[in-house]
Amino acid sequence: MDLLSTLRHEIAGLDFSQALQKAVSFLRKSVAHYNWVGVYMLEGDELVLQAWDGPEPTQHGRIPIGQGICGLAAREKRTVIVGDVNADPRYLACFPYTRSEIVVPIMRGTKVLGEIDIDSDTPYAFTEKDREFLEGVATLLGERYVRDQ
Ligand code: SME
Repeated sequence: MDLLSTLRHEIAGLDFSQALQKAVSFLRKSVAHYNWVGVYMLEGDELVLQAWDGPEPTQHGRIPIGQGICGLAAREKRTVIVGDVNADPRYLACFPYTRSEIVVPIMRGTKVLGEIDIDSDTPYAFTEKDREFLEGVATLLGERYVRDQ
């Protein structure tokens, strides 16, 4: 089974918040360059951290939609990949060892519900393969959100 099918199977019997926690832990343990994995959901004009897995918590539990790579992905409703976070002034630093980041919106139609945020300790870690896989994960989580609300 591929990773997306395995994840779909693993979260099948869980409610939405359990599914998010399972998903972030599954992603972190399954892919070596996913060093910190979080899911933020949009509440008004803020992204609110709902589930995460990584070596330590972030200080950015709530991110205004105007800030960071997270805010950018939500405003522009598209996946954002930053190969070198230290060279991007929009980046909100969480961990000193983070070198690259991908943020993938979770959508319902044209509405942003939230997003998957992954940090890597490796520069330029995220490729089109990650984008494709994580957009599949975001679709799965978006479907689950719609079903569970
Ligand atoms: N780096 C993010 C903030 C969240 S932490 O990575 C967990 C950003 O620039 O929006």
